[in-house]
Amino acid sequence: MEIIRTISWMKQAARNARRQERVVGLVPTMGALHEGHLSLIREAKKKCSPVIVSIFVNPKQFGPNEDFSKYPRTFEADRKALEELGVDYVFVPPPEEMYPAGFRTSVMVEGLSDRLEGRSRPGHFRGVTTVVLKLFEIVQPNLAFFGRKDAQQARILRQMAADLDLDAQLVVCPIVREPDGLAFSSRNVYLKGEERRSATALYRSLEALRREITAGERDVARLIEAMRSVIQSQQGVTLDYAEIVDADAFEPAATLWKPSYALLAARVGATRLIDNALIEPEGESIRVTV
Ligand code: PAJ
Repeated sequence: MEIIRTISWMKQAARNARRQERVVGLVPTMGALHEGHLSLIREAKKKCSPVIVSIFVNPKQFGPNEDFSKYPRTFEADRKALEELGVDYVFVPPPEEMYPAGFRTSVMVEGLSDRLEGRSRPGHFRGVTTVVLKLFEIVQPNLAFFGRKDAQQARILRQMAADLDLDAQLVVCPIVREPDGLAFSSRNVYLKGEERRSATALYRSLEALRREITAGERDVARLIEAMRSVIQSQQGVTLDYAEIVDADAFEPAATLWKPSYALLAARVGATRLIDNALIEPEGESIRVTV
């Protein structure tokens, strides 16, 4: 496994692989790797060689009052995990390599970036699309792997790839959860004592939604209310939003008869967490994947 810190070196390694007509896979991450990240990498290993994992805590996607400086950085542990998985290249550019003095350009997917996460975190998605476009340009992957955990991010990146005629094909992988249902997240290390237990409210809320739908409830407003009430009855947890949106437009869904997402964001103490369920019609019934 080779650790690469410069853009020129990364470009060259990726270019060499492409010349040999190999399937180049990219897994972009911010490090502090957990089972969610590792699942993307395992998927990439099945389909690609070489597999390139980027680790870059992207300052441009953090707001001024967010956790950029205290975001967990665990490079030694990450390196070991990646080595064990048989990753070929780890791309770890320093911030000044990605954003040298005088950097001025950004890319922004209009509309989709303004709501839900974008509304709560202004500028966040502009930072995400800008860094992912740079990574795509540097690596020019055939396949790029993302998690459904960040469903809006995946939708926005798919739009960017389509609009800008990027060759990278996006692969979106399932959400990986702890045994008690909490979705793996690098931010889970912030949860202290009682907060860790309270944090399962997001998963329990999505499970409540699934039960309601399985029992035949089809009214979107009542389903949102069912999700909300689980979060609101959990002490120490503050709801940011609970919505059901069309999976394509990311606008409030009118019915469950088109693919949609139930999306949640909540604060557990000082830690902001997100989670979601995928809702898909299947013949006469509706499948909910948490
Ligand atoms: P990060 O939060 O490190 O996540 C990297 C990838 O792992 C994302 O595609 C995310 O959706 C996926 N992921 C996180 N938790 C997961 C889980 N529990 N199950 C499955 N997949 C999970 O997302 C980012 O970094 C950044 O925004 C990035 C795309 C790297 C751009 O900076």
